Amino acid sequence: ATIYVLNGPNLNLLGMREPDVYGADTLDDIAGMLEDRARELGVEVEVRQSNHEGHLVDWLHEAQAEGARAVLLNAAAFTHTSVALYDAIRAIRTPVIEVHLSNPHAREAFRHKSYVAMAAHGSISGFGAQSYVLALEAAARLP
Ligand code: DQA
Repeated sequence: ATIYVLNGPNLNLLGMREPDVYGADTLDDIAGMLEDRARELGVEVEVRQSNHEGHLVDWLHEAQAEGARAVLLNAAAFTHTSVALYDAIRAIRTPVIEVHLSNPHAREAFRHKSYVAMAAHGSISGFGAQSYVLALEAAARLP
């Protein structure tokens, strides 16, 4: 079973981007952590990043078309703005788990609304890179 791990805008800069908020791990580091845990769980991960909203929409459609077990989605800033992602998550049957490194509810008011959460199966936020690992464990246990 394959679990897609989709990352939105600015997450290509992880490691150097506001490390006090997002930690020192790069997205490659996180991908490595996920690959290690995936091997133990007997699943595969497909990790991608784009700064473009439409790519994330296309990849959500692809996850369903390819029969992915689940999608872990850190939509980054699009979380708080994107009706297109809300609609895409609603349009597919593949379960989507919202992931954030930081806890958006403990931050600026504009981060308190999540279009992703309104359509997702569940959300994991605030554990840094471990948010992804926790979400992978949850995804691997989905029926
Ligand atoms: C983020 C939180 C978002 O509010 C922010 O726009 C990001 C990263 C996180 O992982 O903590 O880019 O999704």
